[in-house]
Parts: sequence; structure tokens; C-alpha cells
Amino acid sequence: NIVILDCGSQFTQLIARRVRELKVHSEILPWDVSLGEIESRRPRGVIISGGPMSVTDEDAPALPEGLFSLEVPVLGVCYGMQLVTSMMGGRVTSGKAREYGRTEISVSGESLLFEGVPSSFEVWMSHGDHIDALAPGFRLVAETSKGVPAAMENPEKGIWGLQFHPEVVHTRFGTEILSNFLFKVCSCSPDWDLGNWIDIMVEEIRQKTGDDRVICGLSGGVDSSVAAVLTARAIGDRLDCIFVNNGLLRLGEAEEVLEQYKQLSLKVHYVDASKTFLSALAGVTDPERKRKIIGETFIRVFEKEAARFEDAAWLLQGTLYPDVIESGHKGKNASVIKSHHNVGGLPEDMKLKVLEPLRDLFKDEVRSTGRLLGVPEAIVSRQPFPGPGLAVRCLGEIDETRLDTLRRADAIFREEIVSWEGYPSIWQAFAVLLPVKTVGVMGDSRTYSEVAVLRAVESHDGMTADWVRVPYDILDRTARRICNEVKGVNRVALDVTSKPPSTIEWE
Ligand code: XMP
Repeated sequence: NIVILDCGSQFTQLIARRVRELKVHSEILPWDVSLGEIESRRPRGVIISGGPMSVTDEDAPALPEGLFSLEVPVLGVCYGMQLVTSMMGGRVTSGKAREYGRTEISVSGESLLFEGVPSSFEVWMSHGDHIDALAPGFRLVAETSKGVPAAMENPEKGIWGLQFHPEVVHTRFGTEILSNFLFKVCSCSPDWDLGNWIDIMVEEIRQKTGDDRVICGLSGGVDSSVAAVLTARAIGDRLDCIFVNNGLLRLGEAEEVLEQYKQLSLKVHYVDASKTFLSALAGVTDPERKRKIIGETFIRVFEKEAARFEDAAWLLQGTLYPDVIESGHKGKNASVIKSHHNVGGLPEDMKLKVLEPLRDLFKDEVRSTGRLLGVPEAIVSRQPFPGPGLAVRCLGEIDETRLDTLRRADAIFREEIVSWEGYPSIWQAFAVLLPVKTVGVMGDSRTYSEVAVLRAVESHDGMTADWVRVPYDILDRTARRICNEVKGVNRVALDVTSKPPSTIEWE
């Protein structure tokens, strides 16, 4: 196990994923965690992440007292390296030698960390501060062309430092360097294996639930589906799944999802609550109100259904590791851009214990777990679909007619784009319906109908995104078909903004 102390870098989760890709389990803890917490993980090594602050700032992250007394190797990355330096008596300075993006470094000394990598190569830097003087006992291992220390070590004390980010893909040999740290410095064994994890988790679910019954809400998405299949493997038909159709799904989606679940032999109770949701949403145009209403209605509907399983003791949820980390760091990210209501947003006062078997996994690990469990590719590689569904893509007032128009336009776009070779790299592709009428002409008649917008984005995590350069012929076919086949739309537009400044969804 490797413990990663998070000092606030946007790359912390990436470090954890890279370590796991090398088949070593990793866990992120906040920088101000107690030494006892770290010790309880019995780590083979500790990585201190980067962070946005200066070591001299008043509230700057510091190291847990006594960290070095644990006698496990420590690797400081970027801010982590500066922090170690300043705590051990070296000097960190602001300004002057700022380096962002690609930088060439040259390796001057022998180091276990740099074994098997060339003596000069390109790395990814992102620092305003830099190290002016190494702490006593440290040796310079590599520097940038500006003469800034890029790597240092004190093997006697078990401390290593990198000014650049080995976890980002733009750093050549980043994987080799991390791998040297894990296997040569920390003597980890590459035994973090999802197949193994499944066996252990199945046993844990059995032990935890005993003879109890479990219920869960299925959304058709990857997380709840994988959580359900994993749990069903452990407890069979003591798991009851509830799939709520909120009337805001895409064309044919409810039927498709039900069919897929049938093939997985899950016990699914289907609830068509479309009317309840649509009447609650009638006349509402504000996006946040829409989300709130959908979240609350979901809770009401789910509670009512769940009450039918009165002997259920557990509620299964598809919480993932990033959700756990985020909620553990609550309050640091003050501005709410959009409130997200997922199937996860269930009432706190339900007298059920919560079962979260995926809470240690990243999304890509959940996908791999799903594949190992035989979950169909259609579910495992499904594009994210927001909890409030088409409500946030049907701008303005929502009714059955407008939803139907949007559904058909959206289905045509997805049908056309799926055959493109670039499709697998798309994060989301969908249509949006605007409550704006424009004039058109069809045959000899004037039309006055609404506008459909096509949106396709690439993204790694939904936090930032770029619009996809979909080939003109696909856009052309899509636009013609929508205007010909979908009543209520006479104009198709393309969204060419990235995130930021726009968001992926229009509401
Ligand atoms: P935005 O629009 O904020 O979206 O750039 C980022 C990612 O989150 C999804 N999204 C949601 N997911 N409930 C969800 O479960 C929501 O209310 C919601 N709003 C946006 C969006 O589809 C994208 O993948």
C-alpha cells in the first residue's frame, strides 16, 4: 500500500491512479491526517502531492509530525519536494524561475529513481516557487535548463523529491520513475489485482450482510450496475433492484436497460414514474429548480417503492473513490456551479445501513471490474448521462411533446456519430432543444419551429472538456435527417465551446 498525502494538487488523484496502474494499491489521505492514521495503513511508501500554495503561506499544508520516524520512503512531488526542503533546512524561493508546461531536464547523478531512463528528457512542470538551496544531506540528481533543481534525494533518510509531475502523460518516462520508486525504493510487490479484489469484496459483502436483504436503485449507468452485479454475486436473490423511469430518459433507453439487466439475471422492479416527474416539473424553467424537483421526486418515489421491501436492512449504493475523497475534503471548494442529484441522493432518514462496495475504486477500475464480472460492454462503456436526464437538455418548459422532439433529434445524432472512427474518444455526444423558434422553409411553406443544438465533447473527468471536431459529412447527415424526420425542429446548430468557459450540459 502507498499513502498519498494530498496538499491540494489537481493531479493528486492521477498519482493514485498511476500507482494502481502499476498494480500497487494506493490511498489518498489529507495532508493534515494524524500519524496514527498513516501508520494504520502500514504503507510501504508515502508520496506527498503537489499543491497550489507556497510553503511560506500562512495556512500552507505541512507534514504530519513524526512522518520521517515511520522509516518508510517518502517521495515529494512539486510542492511536496519544496515542503520537505523547507522543513529540513533548505531554501524555497518564489518567482523568477517559474516553469509551466514542458521543460527539458538533465540528470546529473546516479539515482535509483532514474534507473533505466535517459540522461535528459522532457518533463511537465507547474511551479511558481523553486528550490534555491537543497536541505543539508540532500544530493542534486537532476536540474532544468534554468538550473533549477528538478530532482533530489537523501537515501540515508529515505527521502526523494521531484520538482516535475511524473504522473502526467506529458512527462516522458514518468511511469518508469514512479515504478522505480514503488519497486526499487519501496520494494512493493505488484499484486493489486481487480480479479482478486472481486473475490475479497464478494466475501466481505457476504460477511457484512449475513442473512439480510439488500435493496438498490439502478440507473442504467456503470456504477450502480456494477455495484448490483457484484452484490448479486455475493448474495444472489437477496438483492432487490429498483429501476425508476423518471420520464427523462433517452429514446428506447428504459426498455434497453431493462433488457440488459434481464440478461444479467438481476431481480429488477421497474417503476414507471414518468407522469409523477413530468407533472412536478410542469411550468418550471430554472435549471436548479428542475434539479431540486427531480431529486426530491426521486426520493419520494424510491421511498414508496422501497417500503414494499420491508425486511430489507441494507441500501446498496455505487459510491466511488473520488466521491469519498471529495466529501472528505468538503468546504474547500466553495462555489457550487451545479447541484448534482444522482441516484445516490437518497434520504438520510431511511432506516437502512449503507453498503458501498465500490468506494475504494476509481471509475476506470469500476469499468474493468464490470468487464471481469461479465457486465455487457453497452453498460460498461456507456457515456455519462446526468441524473436529471433530458430535463437539463430540454431548455425552458418541459412537456411530453418537447421531450419527444428532443429524444428523436438526439437519437439521430447518436446513431450517425457512433459509426465514426473517432467515436470511442468522445466523452459525451447529445442534442439539446432550445425554446427558441426560428423561421424556415419546407417545400413551399414557411415553418416556425425550435432549434436543436449538437454537442459532442472530449474529456477525462468531466471537469474540463473540449468540443469534438466531428467530420462535416456526419454533421451534414445529422442536420438533414433531424429537419426531415423530427417534427418541431427546422434548424440545427453546433456547439463549439469548450469547458471552461461553458459547461458540458446547457443547464
Ligand atoms: P457540466 O455540465 O457541469 O457537466 O460541465 C459535467 C459532467 O457532469 C454531468 N452532469 C450531471 N450529472 N447530475 C449528474 O448526475 C447532474 O445534475 C449533472 N449535471 C451535469 C454532465 O453530463 C457531465 O458529464
